[in-house]
Order: sequence, then structure tokens, then C-alpha cells
Amino acid sequence: MKINKICCIGAGYVGGPTMAVIAQKCPHIKVTVVDINEQRIAAWNDENIDNIPIYEPGLSTIVGETRGRNLFFSIDVEKAIEEAQIIFISVNTPTKTYGKGKGMAADLKYIELCARQIARVAKDNKIVVEKSTLPVRTAEAIKNILDNTGNGVQFQILSNPEFLAEGTAVSDLLNPDRILIGGDTTPEGQKAIKSLVEIYANWIPTIKILTTNVWSSELSKLTANAFLAQRISSINALSELCEKTGADIHEVAGAIGMDSRIGSNFLKASVGFGGSCFQKDILNLVYIAKSYALHEVADYWEQVIIMNDHQKKRFANRIVQTLYNTVADKKITLLGWAFKKDTNDTRESAAIYVADDLLNEQANISVYDPKVNRKKILADLDYLETRSYKANASKITTCNNPYDACEGSHAIAILTEWDEFIYYDWLKIYESMEKPAFIFDGRNLLNKLDLQKIGFIYQAIGS
Ligand code: NAD
Ligand code: UGA
Repeated sequence: MKINKICCIGAGYVGGPTMAVIAQKCPHIKVTVVDINEQRIAAWNDENIDNIPIYEPGLSTIVGETRGRNLFFSIDVEKAIEEAQIIFISVNTPTKTYGKGKGMAADLKYIELCARQIARVAKDNKIVVEKSTLPVRTAEAIKNILDNTGNGVQFQILSNPEFLAEGTAVSDLLNPDRILIGGDTTPEGQKAIKSLVEIYANWIPTIKILTTNVWSSELSKLTANAFLAQRISSINALSELCEKTGADIHEVAGAIGMDSRIGSNFLKASVGFGGSCFQKDILNLVYIAKSYALHEVADYWEQVIIMNDHQKKRFANRIVQTLYNTVADKKITLLGWAFKKDTNDTRESAAIYVADDLLNEQANISVYDPKVNRKKILADLDYLETRSYKANASKITTCNNPYDACEGSHAIAILTEWDEFIYYDWLKIYESMEKPAFIFDGRNLLNKLDLQKIGFIYQAIGS
């Protein structure tokens, strides 16, 4: 089947950038991205390209080039489904906050709603692609819904998980390590796989396009995230041992990373990993393992999360201990709120948890992040439900520039590795702070010797 119309349900961090790149690389395909969030769609359609809802280096250029040509953002979900030959489902799949599996399982209600809507609306055969990250065997449930509530048309379900990382989404999409497509082993399933392969082959060498069965594809996505997160928890676990022994985690990571069997990526010790997916996907993996009574498997992976929580907690504890066991009414500056640099995404950011712990100790917190505003910061804290919105708001100041944020502060904590932090006038910052002036570098970003020379008491992770 020659594909010339596709749509994507979900205009978020995955749906938006992924479809923009497909539109750029496949000018012969009309790509429509739909969402029930009207505000988000309005932002994608904003005349001022700088106002698109997701900040990713290079994204606004691609959206500027394709929007209105063959890339469209709309709230008319039904029309887009009806027109499209391939429908990508890229909606959120958060951890369940209620009922069975609360706090662990993936909440599949948005996926099911999409499946039911597709079934109701589709009047001709469709290929439905799972782009969201889903528990293994979700395709079975989607197929059941489509086949039992549909209009008698044929559906093929493919799993095509997304591996992009935020902050590098565009380059990851343009030059991915691999594209994974899982489908049925039947001739119809293979035909559907071929249609999707042909789209990606417009810019990706076919050697990098891997095809598997549906279950392998679904499980590979959870596995990839679990392995990546496990490396971070492993290096973070050893960072604590380094702090006790005089070893330096940066040197240890360098030494082990040169072993080609280990490799050097994802060995950066930090205040703890954040982001919308690592924790959610591992919890989901743990839940699946438990549901098959694989308790040792579940416990093994759960430890990755336990270690990450410990890393965030001990960072906050260290600040309190170092500041003579009290931060009550002291001004502490957090530089960075996003879960990593080059994104405005704050989901599960370590900064939220560090701030929450410091607020429990009655610190006054001032925050500066180049891409995150006060509204978002307060919403993130409110979501934890540790204290009232008003109580958070009274203890949190947000600043539009780092120098104001640091003025009069007892300590600075670096929580996101934004490049600009390296180039600040640290002498000017030092002079404006209370003494002794402390820096807790949760990203091992700054130059220790330079800062010590200025007069700071500098503490990094793992040394
Ligand atoms: P997101 O929350 O940014 O976007 C999801 C969008 O789906 C929202 O705008 C929401 O309004 C919309 N939506 C929900 N239900 C809908 C419905 N019934 N009809 C229309 N729109 C609907 O989420 P995201 O970060 O883009 O993640 C989406 C999926 O991709 C998740 O499963 C996630 O695990 C996976 N993933 C995310 C990343 C990432 O970097 N964020 C990377 C790889 C995979
Ligand atoms: C991660 C994966 O890298 C993607 O492949 C995957 O598609 C995505 O999750 C997803 O499924 O959502 P992302 O969370 O956007 O991408 O960003 P990462 O670069 O993986 O960073 C995650 C967190 O780990 C960040 O807080 C980052 O600062 C931290 N990190 C990363 C470290 O602390 N140390 C490292 O060495 C690497």
C-alpha cells in the first residue's frame, strides 16, 4: 500500500517532534498530529514559532519548514483517524495512581480510549502503530478492542517504540541508533511492517531498521530504559562509596568506560535520574514481573528505583548536614529545575524532590532555570501534596536571572547541567552570597579548583 496520509494521536514530547521529522523527510506524506488538549494544539499552531509547546534544539526550524505544507496540528481527532492509512498512538502512559497496580502499573486508559475511538471511526483498513511505551502484550488488548467494536474493517497492530531522548530529540530522530518495528508474523502483518519500514527508509539506512515480533518489540522498549537507568543507579551507588574512600567517581567511570564491553555512555554520576519515563517504565517492568510471580526478577529491577530515590535524598541531606545541620530560614539557591539540560520538561526531575526535602527543613528556596517558569515549579511541588500550594509559594522565590537567584544565598545547588551555568561570573556570585558560600554540584558540572580559588566550599557527587 502506498502511504500518503498518516496521523498521530498525542501531540506531546514524542508525537510532536517525531511527526515533524517524518513530515520533513517525507514531503509526499500528509502528517496530521491531533490532541484533545486544545491549548497544546493552539501552541503548536502559534504564528510565532518560538511559542511551540516543546523546547528542543532544532525543532522550531523543522516545524517552521513543514507546518502548513504537509504537517498539520488539529483537535479534530475523528477526521484525522478517518483520513489516515497509518495511525500512530503516542499518548501518555503514566504510572497508575489508583486501583489495582497503583504506583506501579502503566495506566492504559488513554490507550484504550484511542483504540475505541479508532474502532468507532475507521471505515477502511488501517495500520495502528503503538508509539507510546507499553507493557508487553498490550497489542493483544488493542486488537481485541479494535476487532470487537469496529466496523468490520481490518486492523494491523504494529509496535514501533520511540527511543529519542529529550534535549536531543531532533538529532536522535534524524540519526537514530535503530528503528524497531514489531508486527504479526502473518502475511498481512508483514505487509504492514513493510509499509512502515518504507516511511523510515526515506532517511534511515535499512540496516538500522530492525523488525521483530510484536511482543519482543514491546518488551525491548522497557528493557532499553531499564538498562539505561540501571547504569545510572550503578554509578550513583558507587559515587557514595567514592565519597567515603577518596576514590573519584569521574576517574572510576573513565577507567571502566574504556572497557569496550562496558562502554562510556550513561556513566555520569548525578543527583539522580529524572524524566517521565525511566521510573515509570521500570515500575511497570517490576509490576509485569510480579504479575507472573517472578519475584526475584521484580526485586532486581526495583533496586534501580530504590537507589535513585536514595541518591536524591542523600543529596538534600548533605546540604543540610554541611550547613551546620540547619537550613531553616536560610536562602538556598537551586540552579536548574528541568530533569536535564536543553529541555523544558520537568517531569520527575530530581530538583522537585530536593526542593521538597529542603522545604521540610524550612529553607527559603530560590530557583533559576533558563526554560522553566514559576507556575510550573509550583505545580510540580503541589503535585507531591507534601504541603499546601500556599505554603510552597511562600517559601519559593523564582528569578529571571541567576545573579538575583544567588544573591544573599547560603548555598547553591546545581540540579540541571545547563551549559550556561559554566560561564557565569562566579566571582560576582560569590561576592553577593553569605559566607561561607557553598556549592553542591549535583551534576559535577563546574570547575572545582576555579571555584575553590574564588573562596567557595565546593562539593561534588562522588569525590
Ligand atoms: P505527553 O504527555 O507529552 O503527550 C501525550 C499527549 O497525548 C498529551 O498532549 C495528551 O493530551 C494526549 N492525549 C492523551 N489522550 C488522548 C486522546 N485520547 N486523544 C488525543 N490525545 C490524547 O507524553 P510524551 O512524553 O509524548 O510520551 C508519550 C509516550 O511516549 C509515553 O508512552 C512515553 O512513555 C513514550 N516515550 C516518551 C519519551 C519522551 O522523551 N518523553 C521518549 C520515548 C517514549
Ligand atoms: C530516556 C532514554 O535515554 C531514551 O532512549 C528514551 O526514549 C526515553 O528515556 C523515554 O523512553 O522517555 P530521557 O529521559 O529523555 O531519555 O533522557 P536521558 O538522557 O536518558 O536522561 C534521563 C535522566 O538520567 C536525566 O535526568 C539525566 O540527567 C540522567 N542521566 C543520564 C544521568 O544522571 N547520568 C547519565 O549518565 C545519563
